Amino acid sequence: MTQANPFDQQRPIDGVKNIIAVSSGKGGVGKSTVAVNLALALSKRGARVGLLDADIYGPSLPRMMGALNHKVDIGEDKKLQPVTRFQIKLMSIGFLVDEDLAVVWRGPMLFKAIDQFLRDVAWGELDYLLVDLPPGTGDVQLSLAQKVPLAGAIAVSTPQNVSLIDVKKALDMWRRMSVPILGVIENMAWFIPPGSSERMQLFPKGSLTKYLQENQLEKLGEIPFHPNVGLGSEAGIPVVESDPTGEEAKAFSAVAERIDKRFRL
Ligand SMILES: Nc1ncnc2c1ncn2[C@@H]1O[C@H](COP(=O)(O)OP(=O)(O)O)[C@@H](O)[C@H]1O
Ligand SMILES: [Mg+2]
Repeated sequence: MTQANPFDQQRPIDGVKNIIAVSSGKGGVGKSTVAVNLALALSKRGARVGLLDADIYGPSLPRMMGALNHKVDIGEDKKLQPVTRFQIKLMSIGFLVDEDLAVVWRGPMLFKAIDQFLRDVAWGELDYLLVDLPPGTGDVQLSLAQKVPLAGAIAVSTPQNVSLIDVKKALDMWRRMSVPILGVIENMAWFIPPGSSERMQLFPKGSLTKYLQENQLEKLGEIPFHPNVGLGSEAGIPVVESDPTGEEAKAFSAVAERIDKRFRL
């Protein structure tokens, strides 16, 4: 008897050209921050972008995108209408239930939610749908890769070795599921202290660069640590929107350019 291949359920989303997973081994490395700023940077290049918050237990995109109290409507097509902010189409469990209620959800409900977010949202025509995943290598990641063909996965890491250990696990997972790895974004790569012009390391530099070289993986970019990045997320106006010519925004734009050149122009 042959076993059913779970990847056989894979179906594209009508109108959506490239679905890109934003992953990390650990929480708190800036995955959601990268996802929102990358979405904005791609949009500023003229791409049509959607952002799906698949972090069911810790949805943070409504807050980061300044859409905290938005609720979604159901359109005539019976589909959930995404919330649009800064020209990005957004969907998050945070629009459907209270932030603190999502944590009591159990496995089957969770899968149903991911499935609905992929199929029952009126995404329309998109060049990119970025999916902000929960940290780690769990069921949500697996379920996403089984349900839709992913154009690729990005992993976000901080420079130090403890983060590298976890990012390796995330990269291994994508490899096992035959998802193309677009590369790694090193977040909080450096900091320029006030009154100085010299870059300072916040974390000891680990072996990320060496690991990437040895495994023929790309470093998609380095994002500096800057209080404005965090403040932008808290205020609901990501730094690429609030200070598009600043150094932080430029770092995100450089990553967006690399991705966009690969898939669109
Ligand atoms: N480059 C950065 N500079 C300053 N603060 C950052 C940067 N990246 C992330 N942060 C902050 O670090 C915290 C964790 O980021 P977040 O994107 O929520 O991580 P994750 O989604 O990986 O859990 C947030 O408070 C965020 O504002
Ligand atoms: Mg997050």
